[in-house]
Amino acid sequence: SQPIEAAGEVKTDAAKRVKIGIYFAFWWALNVVFNIYNKKVLNAYPYPWLTSTLSLACGSLMMLISWATRITEAPKTDFEFWKTLFPVAVAHTIGHVAATVSMSKVAVSFTHIIKSGEPAFSVLVSRFLLGETFPPSVYLSLVPIIGGCALAAVTELNFNMIGFMGAMISNLAFVFRNIFSKKGMKGKSVSGMNYYACLSLMSLAILTPFAIAVEGPQMWAAGWQTAVSQIGPQFIWWVAAQSIFYHLYNQVSYMSLDEISPLTFSIGNTMKRISVIVSSIIIFHTPVQPINALGAAIAILGTFLYSQAKV
Ligand code: 3PG
Repeated sequence: SQPIEAAGEVKTDAAKRVKIGIYFAFWWALNVVFNIYNKKVLNAYPYPWLTSTLSLACGSLMMLISWATRITEAPKTDFEFWKTLFPVAVAHTIGHVAATVSMSKVAVSFTHIIKSGEPAFSVLVSRFLLGETFPPSVYLSLVPIIGGCALAAVTELNFNMIGFMGAMISNLAFVFRNIFSKKGMKGKSVSGMNYYACLSLMSLAILTPFAIAVEGPQMWAAGWQTAVSQIGPQFIWWVAAQSIFYHLYNQVSYMSLDEISPLTFSIGNTMKRISVIVSSIIIFHTPVQPINALGAAIAILGTFLYSQAKV
């Protein structure tokens, strides 16, 4: 029966690859749409703390409805689960709001070029905070990642310090989020989809008071009037689109994280950034100098070298 079993294994392996491939394709496509609508909204309505809260609120609502209507089975969770989820939710909240603040200040492409430096943060956190060591080739791959990001940053035509720092903070926060998430999902009966739903709910609870304190309903209401008068009633659909697509791309990314290593996840994430950078430059007519594009290309190439060195 051995050859049959082997054939079965090959089949499951191939099926798994196809499944991951489909997840990745959806993850990137949904992310491109999110980034475009998010920037369209932020251009007309520069309140990143509210838009990031709305993204989490929309995802939470979608999941609560699908649990109530049994489209998806609700996860069975205990106090221990929520306790372990808390640090993940703090990191997710910080990473999300920091990236959105960044995108409200600079071009989408610039935020994502800086965010392509995430593997460098991953190595530095693992090395200095978790005491993990890596072969020299891994440290060497950080040179093009950091150098490329630095070159892109100094040659960015519309450089803004808040935009730059937001993307850097987001990198650091998401490294922690990914490390804690994978640990939290290991051996648990909660699926990737439900894990991300719980993460949204908890992050929403954490972010809401801060969003009210930093921006608040008065600013939101006044800004809303202006945005609707400038854009027209379809502005509400832009807000809905950025919120729905935010949830969907993250949900799909967690569904794939369920099945792959954090390393494969971060490679997939960097490849995703290439599609976001290219499409946002085309759609928003972002001015790019050749040297600026070279910096981005070096940083992304560095990520591929890193992935090869880490295997
Ligand atoms: C956010 O708003 O959370 C960021 O745009 C997410 O960035 P990501 O591309 O790392 O998911």
